[in-house]
This record gives sequence, C-alpha cells and structure tokens, in this order.
Amino acid sequence: MTGASVVGAVVPAAGLGVRLGPGAPKALRGLAGEPLLVHAVRGLRACSQIGTLVVAAPAPDVEDVSRLLAAYDVLVVAGGPQRQDSVRLALAALPEEVDLVLVHDAARCLVPPSVVEAVVEALHAGAAGVVPVLPVSDTVKQVDGTRVVGTLDRAVLRAVQTPQGFRREVLERAHAASCSGATDDAWLVEALGEVVRTVPGDDEAFKITRPLDLVLAEAVLALRVPLEGRHGR
Ligand code: CTP
Ligand code: MG
Repeated sequence: MTGASVVGAVVPAAGLGVRLGPGAPKALRGLAGEPLLVHAVRGLRACSQIGTLVVAAPAPDVEDVSRLLAAYDVLVVAGGPQRQDSVRLALAALPEEVDLVLVHDAARCLVPPSVVEAVVEALHAGAAGVVPVLPVSDTVKQVDGTRVVGTLDRAVLRAVQTPQGFRREVLERAHAASCSGATDDAWLVEALGEVVRTVPGDDEAFKITRPLDLVLAEAVLALRVPLEGRHGR
C-alpha cells in the first residue's frame, strides 16, 4: 500500500439485546453507571489512529445517542434490522478518504486498547482482513438433534472477537456480495476468497450477550478502576 492510510471505525450498536432479557436496547444498558456504548466508544477512542467513528444506533434512539456521545466526536446513523444491515449503513457514512476500517461490536465494550492497536497494525502491514482470536477452551461437538455426530479438533479452532479490521474496498465488496447466515464481517470477506489474518484477542474483549456477562463486565471494571487511579497519580 502506498501513501498514508486513513483509519476509520464503525460500531454496530443497533441490536435489541433479546438474550439479555427485557429492557432498553443492549448498547444503552447501564454498566458501572454508564451505557455499554459509552464504554465501547471510549475504548476505540483510546487508539489515536482511529479518525472518523460511525455508530449505528437503534433508529428511535439516534438523537439520544448523538447527545450521549457528544464528547467523543462520532457520527450516529440509524442501524437496520440485522447486524449486517447496521454495518452496511454505518460504512456508507464514512468519508471517502477512509481506506482502512475497523468494525467493532458495541457489545464488546471492554476491549483493551492493545487489541485495537494490534488489528490496526496488521492492516498497516498489508492484511486485507484481520480478526482477533482466542483458543477454544471447550470441546466442540457437531450434533444432529440430540445425537453427537462428530467432534471438532479444537487445536485448529479459534473463537473470534472484534474489532475486525479490513481494507475498506474489500469490506464494501464483501457487503455488496453478502451471504445469508454470516455471523461476522470476516465471513463475508472470506467468501470473496480474500485472506483474513489473526492477531491475539483478549479475554476482556468478550461479548456481552446474556445477563451473566454483565456481572463479569462489572467485575472487570471494578478491578480496572483502582489500577487506572494509580496510574493517574
Ligand atoms: N447489532 C446491530 N444491528 C442489529 C443487530 C445487532 O447493530 N440489527 C449489533 C449489536 O448492537 C451488537 C452487535 O451487533 O453490538 C453484536 O450483536 P449481538 O451481540 O447479537 O447483539 P443484539 O443483536 O443486540 O443481541 P440479541 O441477538 O440477543 O438480540
Ligand atoms: Mg443479535
């Protein structure tokens, strides 16, 4: 790649959080006194290389979310019915000069800056797509109903997190081609035949999906605060 690359990020945050149980859309639920989305955006802003940041919010909440994130210099757009729609809508709002894009789930609101930086670095090194990964600690079975039909070799499996990073042109092509059932952006890029590389993920980049995840997130933050306080002195 020639010339300086311009990095932007999109944050799909328009989901309802059905698995979290009744309440506000997931990105707007409270965690240590602030909405999840504020934690997520702050985490991305810790990486100084990210310029434009676009958040896809639930359509009825766009104005509230803009106010909520006023201090973080973000653009807020309405998301769509599926995550893929929200990513596509947010991507379309990125300025033309952005050529490297991170896609980061608001639900992975405690991602450490080191993971964000590792993804950006791998993009600068020329990767078309980058995903942070962790080894799989459970044994994973293939089933047919209640019958086990196979066991996957977990040594070659990885659990995938966000932010995922892409050359913008590749990600836009992937979303234009789309494929139903894809559960992440890298899947769409892989379907094009583009190479996706891995970088080490982090336990703290876990996704808040079920109520127990919120308990874990509160605990992680409770441990972080005294540490940050110490650094500040
Ligand atoms: N997301 C989105 N637009 C949608 C659906 C999901 O922007 N139509 C976002 C969510 O806000 C979240 C990320 O995609 O940050 C990952 O999705 P997931 O964890 O599944 O969140 P929800 O869809 O909100 O949760 P659930 O599936 O339990 O309803
Ligand atoms: Mg969902």
